[in-house]
Amino acid sequence: MDLTPKRASESATEMVQVVLPNDANPLGVILGGTVMHLIDIAGAIAGHRHTRSLLVTAAVDGLQFLHSIKVGVLIILKSRVTCVFKTSLEVQVDVHSEETLTGNRRLTSRAYLTFVAIARDGCRVEVPPLIVETDEERRVCDEAHARRAERLKRRNTAMS
Ligand SMILES: CC(C)(COP(=O)(O)OP(=O)(O)OC[C@H]1O[C@@H](n2cnc3c(N)ncnc32)[C@H](O)[C@@H]1OP(=O)(O)O)[C@@H](O)C(=O)NCCC(=O)NCCS
Repeated sequence: MDLTPKRASESATEMVQVVLPNDANPLGVILGGTVMHLIDIAGAIAGHRHTRSLLVTAAVDGLQFLHSIKVGVLIILKSRVTCVFKTSLEVQVDVHSEETLTGNRRLTSRAYLTFVAIARDGCRVEVPPLIVETDEERRVCDEAHARRAERLKRRNTAMS
């Protein structure tokens, strides 16, 4: 495993697609499950770009759907690594809708996913450090540490 430190910008990812009828419920808005699938994919791509390793999704923090996205509207998913731990890392995924005719955008969901890096034999492997330089990057990473502590508490509760 190449453990050369990387910047978040090196793995940041943007996915754009149009919502098609096949993605929608009878009201003509995208299915929550489809959004969750796209969030997992967008998050994993950023994670793979950072680690260049196999990954499993360990956790997705409480997800909210703030606004619906109708058929014909664009769905945009932006993912970036917020913080790296030892064998795991947190990725933030922001979901926006964009009206094709006006360009109006709005945030529809924000998710934090934790991925764990594994080798083909299933053993966990270390992930490359994240280069944290600016005050903003430090703030984002501090917040990720706080979220991690909470989700590990929830995990312990779920396992007991
Ligand atoms: C995620 C998984 C690999 C963790 O394995 P484990 O033996 O319990 O691992 P450990 O307790 O030793 O933790 C390993 C790392 O994962 C992190 N982790 C494990 N479960 C976590 C959770 N629920 N939330 C956040 N981080 C978690 C630990 O903090 C640790 O990170 P670190 O090395 O950076 O400190 C294991 O539970 C698993 O395989 N789950 C199923 C994953 C899956 O099938 N996902 C869907 C398809 S990809």
